[in-house]
Amino acid sequence: MLAPSAYNSQPWQFRIVGGALELHADATRARPIADPLGREMFLACGAALENVRIALRHLGRNVEIAILPDHARPKLVARVRVGTPRAATLTEARFFTAIPLRRSNRARFYGRPLPFGVAPSIEQAVEGTGAALRFVSPATTRDALAQIIHEADRAQAYDPEFRAELAAWLRPNHTDRPDGMPGFAFGLSTPMAALAPLALRAFAWDRMRVVCDDELAREAPLVGVLLTQRDEPRDWIAAGQGMERALLFATSQGIATGVMNQAIQVPEARERVRRLMGTDMQPLAILRFGFGTDAQPTPRRGLRDVLVRSQRG
Ligand SMILES: Cc1cc2nc3c(=O)[nH]c(=O)nc-3n(C[C@H](O)[C@H](O)[C@H](O)COP(=O)(O)O)c2cc1C
Repeated sequence: MLAPSAYNSQPWQFRIVGGALELHADATRARPIADPLGREMFLACGAALENVRIALRHLGRNVEIAILPDHARPKLVARVRVGTPRAATLTEARFFTAIPLRRSNRARFYGRPLPFGVAPSIEQAVEGTGAALRFVSPATTRDALAQIIHEADRAQAYDPEFRAELAAWLRPNHTDRPDGMPGFAFGLSTPMAALAPLALRAFAWDRMRVVCDDELAREAPLVGVLLTQRDEPRDWIAAGQGMERALLFATSQGIATGVMNQAIQVPEARERVRRLMGTDMQPLAILRFGFGTDAQPTPRRGLRDVLVRSQRG
């Protein structure tokens, strides 16, 4: 439930079926304009799946995971079975502790560089998931990436359908709603946050953000692109698992993280990111790492809303 998801849409549902835990993508929480193929929906589910795995390992169990989406049951992400006892390692315990501490940070990071050796460790945290993280060098390709993000941001800002969909997931700063993004997550004051959905429906919002993402991408000490070999639901799930591991590892080191995916959501921009990275692999997320002020937690749905006990099986 604490995993990151685009627009804080939390597009997952857990079902206990027989002795297994099934994870399903919840298509009622899809974002058809920004994410027509469901890539980011499966990414979020992959992140939630990784949290399940880490939690069970923390509880001292082996974990058997079958990644499942197929033509017959396209929304069934995975089936998880609790295996035999095996003590958690220190690294696994650290990942677990980081789950409730992880935040998406949208503020400027300080200029302070990351400690030596941290970037390769973040890269390593992703290994074995089926995804790979490649860093974008500030010396060579960072400006070009920031430019692509800027253009993708503008393309979305001038698309009324995109804006209406995003507006539906924006929330006031004080809200009882268990999903969506309160204005404080973007650094908005309480009055600005209350007005934001209305303003967004009416105008291109590119001046509304306190800091624009291209600037954040340009300035961050470390920016990485998460890549997979192919572009199928299984790859999207793997990317979600890899993304969560990178974010949790960084969190465990006291490093702030953020996701900036407009250049993944706009098809032409995504192709440009792929070429910029000089790869045949598929870009699925752009991640930012650094030191900054603390971000507040965003709301989550309750267990009753996401967990279903099924008679089947
Ligand atoms: C696939 C994916 C794409 C995301 N894209 C963006 C983005 O483009 N810009 C942004 O500010 N946050 C982005 N996020 C972060 C979510 O908005 C964030 O996870 C959600 O609001 C919940 O907040 P939390 O991560 O602090 O728990 C993305 C997250 C995921 C999983």
